[in-house]
Amino acid sequence: MASPPSHLLLSSSLLIISTIAFTFSPFSRASDNPETQYSFQELLESAREPEFFDWMISIRRRIHQNPELAFEEFETSALVRAQLDELGIKYLWPVAKTGVLGSVGSGSGPRFAIRADMDALPLQELVDWEYKSKRKGKMHACGHDVHTTMLLGAAKLLQQKKDELKGTVKLVFQPAEEGHAGAYFMLQEGVLDDVQAIFGIHIEPYLPTGTIACRPGPVLAASARFVAVIKGKGGHAAAPHNAADPVLAASFAILSLQQIVSRESDPLDARVVSVGFIKAGDAHNVIPESVTFGGTFRSLTTEGIVYLTRRIKEIIETQSAVHRCTASLDFMEKKLIPYPPTINDEEMYAHIKMVGESLVGKANFKPSIPAMGAEDFGFYSQRMPGAVIQLGTQNETLAPTYMLHSPYLFVDEQALPVGAAMYAAVAMSYLERHTSEL
Ligand SMILES: *[C@@H]1O[C@H](CO)[C@@H](O)[C@H](O)[C@H]1NC(C)=O
Ligand SMILES: [Zn+2]
Ligand SMILES: [Zn+2]
Repeated sequence: MASPPSHLLLSSSLLIISTIAFTFSPFSRASDNPETQYSFQELLESAREPEFFDWMISIRRRIHQNPELAFEEFETSALVRAQLDELGIKYLWPVAKTGVLGSVGSGSGPRFAIRADMDALPLQELVDWEYKSKRKGKMHACGHDVHTTMLLGAAKLLQQKKDELKGTVKLVFQPAEEGHAGAYFMLQEGVLDDVQAIFGIHIEPYLPTGTIACRPGPVLAASARFVAVIKGKGGHAAAPHNAADPVLAASFAILSLQQIVSRESDPLDARVVSVGFIKAGDAHNVIPESVTFGGTFRSLTTEGIVYLTRRIKEIIETQSAVHRCTASLDFMEKKLIPYPPTINDEEMYAHIKMVGESLVGKANFKPSIPAMGAEDFGFYSQRMPGAVIQLGTQNETLAPTYMLHSPYLFVDEQALPVGAAMYAAVAMSYLERHTSEL
């Protein structure tokens, strides 16, 4: 996920995550079912036990030191499988090339999925620490190392409680979240067809460790790309009348694109059109044959993205014609599948809120705000009720705060038990609530 810094969220040091507060919090039942024997706190306490915590930290650091890019997560995937083997958890592999689908529980009853992504970014880590990325130009700068580790942590917690599970939990270790739609390919293989709902976690460096943020409805944008080639007629820059200038056509087109959001869209309906690159000629005194430019466009709704797609094409083609040029548009859907919006299901949100407030305390469960970053989690939430939370990883005692995708991103590992327990608690209690429905 690429979200802009969510300063607005941050805040206040409502960090009342003292163990004392937890210990005295009322025994939180997953449901009214009198047979429920576990509490959410118990899961968190397990994950915080030194041996468990050290195990998670060592996994996280190994993944962090050996980042792999989209669809190249071979070693990460092998590490995940080795850990599942050790835990005695069955899995399907390969799913979508490097993906792994674990399965814990009774094998029958309701099926609930919890998801982590495994890929890193093409980025050189600039944090100077002992467990820095060992791979040049690759870094886990979006926390997917942390997500993968927390899901393994949840696997261990769930396996410890496997006799109490009222159904089956699917552990989704997916490849290629960063731009390559790994979630789409996991779904394509049909392995989640029998799943009723899905839950995901993304780290959030602007939220303090021990806090969680979530909201119902849209949380992340639908995102797509375009590349435009405007073709004119090249010539000597001193004789523009003998040429058809694609530089001018592209300039007008790019300016006109700005009006889609400012003049044609409801100001309360968030949309983005950004041009990220322009490639024209090489010389001061030559009008080039063609200009290529491209960018990203986003909306919190599917209708919005469809509208933007149509208008971007119309505007670039029409502006090109005005300047005696022609344009061709490529929306790259085949190579890089556009992401749908990520929309948190209302009921899932209510469920997560109940679990989250019990786990981290009411004051540490905060409302999130939507951002125009994109997540391939949207493919899951398009298919079934789903929700994703933001998990705080900020600790300025350890390191200054940098946003996701920053080469300076540093994650407070104290968040690992919180995430692992949250994954497990949401899944267990979901099964319990839905066990009578099947
Ligand atoms: C931040 O890190 C310091 C040093 O490890 C630790 O003492 C403190 O408890 C952490 N704060 C939170 C909120 O986890
Ligand atoms: Zn990302
Ligand atoms: Zn991410």
